[in-house]
Amino acid sequence: MVYRSKKSLINKSLSGSKRLCFSAFLGVCTVAALALSTVLYAGDNGPCLECHTKPDKLKVSEKAKIDPITGEIKVASMLVDEATFKTTAHGGSDFFCVDCHQELDGADLTDGHKPNLKPVDCITFCHDDPAEDYLQSSHVKLMKEHNKDVPTCKDCHFGLTFHDSVTGEKSPMYVPMGTNALHRKLTIEACSFCHQEYFDGYRNNAHGQVTSLGYTNEDVPVCFDCHGKHKILNSSDPESKVGKERILETCGKCHANANASFVKHIEHPQIKNLSYYNALLNAIKNGRSDPENLKKVLKNPQTILCIVFVMYMGILGFTFSSFGLHSLLCWLAAIRDEYRRKGHSDEEQH
Ligand code: HEC
Ligand code: HEC
Ligand code: HEC
Ligand code: HEC
Ligand code: HEC
Ligand code: HEC
Repeated sequence: MVYRSKKSLINKSLSGSKRLCFSAFLGVCTVAALALSTVLYAGDNGPCLECHTKPDKLKVSEKAKIDPITGEIKVASMLVDEATFKTTAHGGSDFFCVDCHQELDGADLTDGHKPNLKPVDCITFCHDDPAEDYLQSSHVKLMKEHNKDVPTCKDCHFGLTFHDSVTGEKSPMYVPMGTNALHRKLTIEACSFCHQEYFDGYRNNAHGQVTSLGYTNEDVPVCFDCHGKHKILNSSDPESKVGKERILETCGKCHANANASFVKHIEHPQIKNLSYYNALLNAIKNGRSDPENLKKVLKNPQTILCIVFVMYMGILGFTFSSFGLHSLLCWLAAIRDEYRRKGHSDEEQH
């Protein structure tokens, strides 16, 4: 039994001139294959699923695998949950196992196949656009500068379907859709794992409060709706989705009446972030030697918000402690009166 996918998605996903060349190449291959007519067109995932959904057909249903990049050893299940797979980004009817597991394209599967396949390459054939965007992002640049491990495609697009896959197994093949509410919720956690301060700011704000109530459908923004998916840039970059030049467009997707003053709204208030206050104090302390920085910090709407917050807390604190003091004094006065009255009546008895 020789298996080959009827129509490769790779062809569809290639862009521009590459697509032309590739189509031509594929055309030639198809003609050659038809002429030889030794190839059997299975045209679906049947042969793969025939083994990979049935533990008894697999000699090994679990395997220890070494991650080629991190070197981590983990146990991976060889079982595929067909229903879960169909709900993923690649589960459409015109997508085939061999589009990703290309080594098996055209392989003879009568006795199974060789054990250690090459890792799936997301970039070369299908997703060169995200790869290019990703490499240009502040993320990759800064992480490299700061000597931090840059996450790979598979780190971020790791299967998140553990709640319903047969084995409770997460596999990078189960790539969830960006429109799925549960997945969107999990992306907040994924970003926040490394950006706690900004997560706290998000949670202090309308959007983050709505998502914390469990509403994570596409109407409510999660991190990537504002910052983008792959080309995540610092807000000072003119191409950033949250920078001056593009923020109206970003907010305008949901807030039809957004205008220049609306987008001044502070998305990540740092009011509860002590290190922001520290930076503020430092800027004031070094105001003489570094007036530029002081000016920048004072002009930042974040600073005004923090000052207002401190004043507000001050007023609250003052009001409540005055009330407290007042009540305490009243209480002491009442005790004193009671004591005096008692003493008085004692005197009267004598
Ligand atoms: C005859 C049964 C059979 C068929 C048909 C079959 N497989 Fe497998 N497959 C296996 C077994 C058994 C293993 C475990 C391999 C091992 O390590 O010995 C496996 C392992 C794998 C692995 C993991 C390999 C690794 O590197 O650890 C992938 C990926 C895979 N199969 C994909 C496919 C795809 C895609 C198809 C269809 C084109 C397919 N298989 C068809 C039996 C089958
Ligand atoms: C979108 C690409 C894609 C598609 C389509 C796809 N896989 Fe995979 N598959 C992967 C990736 C990525 C891995 C993780 C190993 C790796 O990085 O190569 C994987 C791993 C596997 C494994 C090993 C288990 C694991 O978690 O490492 C098996 C078995 C497997 N695939 C079978 C299949 C079968 C059967 C189909 C068709 C129903 C299929 N795959 C379709 C991308 C895909
Ligand atoms: C830092 C995390 C991260 C990395 C690394 C990453 N992505 Fe993404 N990607 C996302 C997020 C977030 C989304 C939007 C939510 C979703 O669809 O999962 C997304 C969406 C996508 C989509 C859906 C299409 C779209 O634009 O909406 C594709 C395709 C994709 N990524 C491919 C890749 C490829 C290929 C790589 C490796 C070069 C990669 N991603 C690396 C975070 C990442
Ligand atoms: C594995 C950890 C990690 C994950 C996950 C991660 N980031 Fe980052 N991110 C970093 C690091 C490290 C930097 C560089 C910051 C630095 O060192 O100054 C960075 C930089 C950024 C920047 C630019 C900050 C600046 O100072 O210019 C933004 C914006 C950002 N990330 C947003 C996101 C979003 C949105 C997500 C989720 C899609 C995400 N990050 C996921 C670690 C991560
Ligand atoms: C409604 C849109 C929106 C959402 C949702 C959002 N952000 Fe932001 N984010 C912004 C804006 C606007 C800025 C720039 C101004 C600022 O620093 O507050 C920013 C700034 C940042 C920065 C600092 C780097 C820079 O570009 O200035 C990081 C890091 C960051 N966000 C991470 C996150 C994370 C993590 C999440 C999800 C928990 C998230 N953001 C959700 C709009 C958003
Ligand atoms: C994915 C859609 C979406 C995006 C993008 C988005 N918002 Fe929102 N925003 C909402 C929802 C939903 C609410 C909460 C419900 C409501 O009050 O309308 C909200 C509430 C708000 C509020 C609270 C006050 C109000 O109008 O109810 C402000 C302020 C706000 N957003 C500002 C922004 C800014 C600034 C941006 C761009 C940086 C932005 N939003 C981007 C969906 C979005």
